[in-house]
Amino acid sequence: MIGWVVVMEPSEYQQWLEEGTTEESMSVAGERLFRRLGCSGCHGANATVRAPLLDGVYGHPVALETGRFVQADERYIRDSILLPASGGGGRVTSR
Ligand code: HEC
Repeated sequence: MIGWVVVMEPSEYQQWLEEGTTEESMSVAGERLFRRLGCSGCHGANATVRAPLLDGVYGHPVALETGRFVQADERYIRDSILLPASGGGGRVTSR
C-alpha cells in the first residue's frame, strides 16, 4: 500500500482545503479537533464526565483495572477512541 484515496463531497472538500491552508502546528490543529469533535467535553480538565485526562498519555504506560499496564501507542489510542474501555483489553484506572 503506497497511499490512500479519499473521496469527499464538494462541501467537505472545500472545508478540508480551508483547514489545510493554515500554518498551525500539529498540536494546535489537534487541539482544535479535540474541541470540535467533543473530546474535551469528557476529557477536558473541567469536564463533569469521569474520563481520564489525556495530557502526556501518548507513548507512556497506562494502568488498567486488571492490574496490567499497556503502552499508549498509536494502536492503543486508536482502539480507545473507537472502542472505549476495550483499548488494551480493559478499563483504565482513574487518574
Ligand atoms: C462521552 C465521553 C467521552 C468522549 C466524548 C470521548 N471520550 Fe475518550 N474516553 C472516555 C472514557 C470514559 C474513557 C475511559 C475508558 C476506560 O475506562 O478504558 C476514555 C478513554 C480514552 C482514551 C484512553 C485514555 C487512557 O488514559 O488510556 C483515549 C486516548 C481517548 N479516550 C480519546 C478520546 C478522543 C480523541 C475523543 C474525541 C474524538 C474522545 N476520547 C471522546 C470518554 C469519552
